[in-house]
Amino acid sequence: MEIYTTQKFANLKGKMIGFSDKALDIHLGLYDGYVKNTNKLLAEISNLQREVKTDTPEYAELKRRLGWEFDGMRLHEFYFSALGGNGKIDKKGKLFAAMKESFGGYEAWENDFLSTAKMRGIGWAALYRDPKNGKLMNFWINEHNDGHPAGLDLLLNVDVFEHAFMLDYGTNRAGYLEAFMKNLDWKVIEKRW
Ligand SMILES: [Fe+2]
Repeated sequence: MEIYTTQKFANLKGKMIGFSDKALDIHLGLYDGYVKNTNKLLAEISNLQREVKTDTPEYAELKRRLGWEFDGMRLHEFYFSALGGNGKIDKKGKLFAAMKESFGGYEAWENDFLSTAKMRGIGWAALYRDPKNGKLMNFWINEHNDGHPAGLDLLLNVDVFEHAFMLDYGTNRAGYLEAFMKNLDWKVIEKRW
């Protein structure tokens, strides 16, 4: 049974500054793989639950893989749905004000976000908001599932697995990040608050 459906993000094709359609197609294909594998794992977990075979190494391994596939799926959905904009944040908006409060200003936030994204390794840089005190923080997420802060709201994330930039930028991760920022739709990001 298909629990999750692959989103198309058709609005992005031919519209993104510095992102080729070929790279987007490859990336969307990889995202589709996370959706399919999440559905597959959930179905297999459900089967073992029905058969009460939950106290098994197979069940434990499926549970372990679920976090990686599910987060891979959901992080890509956050990533693609934040794109397709003009990269300009609303300077009168609450997010801009919160960046000033938490980092001293947009530029300081961006510097921290991009520095996090340039860290060696594969994963994601992600902006979170702590609903307990309104503080904004950038985190490094290793792979897809390691390093998420518990109970914080994800507002924005950038994919820094090589597949996200290799085709268009080679090893120039900074060039890819520059293009990424130019395509952000800050209205979508602000709505996630
Ligand atoms: Fe990716």
